[in-house]
Amino acid sequence: MSDDLLEVRGLTVEYVAEGGSVRACDDVSFTVRRGEILGVAGESGSGKSTLITALTRLERPPAVTTAGQILFRPHGVAEPIDLVPLTEKQLRKHRWRDLAIVMQSAMNALNPVLRLGAQFTDVLRHHDRGLGRAGAERRTEELLSLVGLTAAQARSYPHELSGGTRQRATIALALACGADLVVMDEPTTAVDVVMQRQILANVLRLRDELGFAVVLVTHDLSLLVELADRIAIMYAGKIVEVGTAHDIYHRPSHPYTAGLRASFPPLHAPVERLHGIPGTPPDLRRLPSGCAFHPRCPKRFEPCDSVVPRLSAVGDQEVACHLHSHDRSEVVDA
Ligand SMILES: Nc1ncnc2c1ncn2[C@@H]1O[C@H](COP(=O)(O)OP(=O)(O)OP(=O)(O)O)[C@@H](O)[C@H]1O
Ligand code: SF4
Ligand SMILES: [Mg+2]
Repeated sequence: MSDDLLEVRGLTVEYVAEGGSVRACDDVSFTVRRGEILGVAGESGSGKSTLITALTRLERPPAVTTAGQILFRPHGVAEPIDLVPLTEKQLRKHRWRDLAIVMQSAMNALNPVLRLGAQFTDVLRHHDRGLGRAGAERRTEELLSLVGLTAAQARSYPHELSGGTRQRATIALALACGADLVVMDEPTTAVDVVMQRQILANVLRLRDELGFAVVLVTHDLSLLVELADRIAIMYAGKIVEVGTAHDIYHRPSHPYTAGLRASFPPLHAPVERLHGIPGTPPDLRRLPSGCAFHPRCPKRFEPCDSVVPRLSAVGDQEVACHLHSHDRSEVVDA
């Protein structure tokens, strides 16, 4: 069986509007290996949620997936399944069981009229018909304890719980059915930093035990460097660099990655002055020509404002920057 659990090829997502479409995810390609934690980072508006939503086929109008393939190889399936052309009914077979999702507004994902524990036992028993009530309750307690919640909290309705508690419960619910891939978009924004690290450390531990893969989106590059195996950096709807967490942190190749890296405190050293990236991310309706980062790039040179750099291999990393283009004649005009 291939080591690649997910292979995304040329995924393009547009927000369709009267005055013209906005391409928030533009020809994005990457892979996720079995058991791997792939982090996705980038400034606000770079397309992270658009990518994650399309990846799980939860995009809704005005978002439309206009091109690309999402090849998924869950356990026990011989041939990869392309998720893009699947119907809602076909997708339902894979949700939770093979592919679990914690969205950015996760805390609203719980059913308001069911006690927390009942939601867990329902999901667990739906996916494992042989699981009795007592077994499901035991498993629910285990799952809740992973995110620091108690059996007493399982008896509450979602509205009786704080935002952070609901967010933690949603993470535990996503881990309930033994999916091969868990996709998380800013899963811990409503909890404090200590709890955030504790939850994510538990996810990591469980990943080591159960072997699921995670795609984890967050603004916090320092957090990703601690948790992820590899990191993809997004800018203006494109992946501009993918590499191991170590290389992204210690040897960023793309000037945007270097800027992002300098905007976050060092991992294990005293915090010195942080340097943000000058300027703001572009309006996707009016993208700069050539490399979309060129108006902010301290390293820009002659081809940058006219030629779009392609993502290509640089050692073990992939980078979309003319500083690393081997053959600039190959790249296309904007
Ligand atoms: N409903 C929408 N209608 C039109 N355009 C949208 C819509 N939602 C997002 N966009 C466009 O897509 C871009 C990417 O948005 P997205 O939510 O994917 O960014 P993000 O990287 O997840 O940001 P954040 O870090 O703030 O969550 C936005 O800058 C905006 O131009
Ligand atoms: S292509 Fe040019 S402008 Fe873009 S990141 Fe590289 S050096 Fe900077
Ligand atoms: Mg987002």
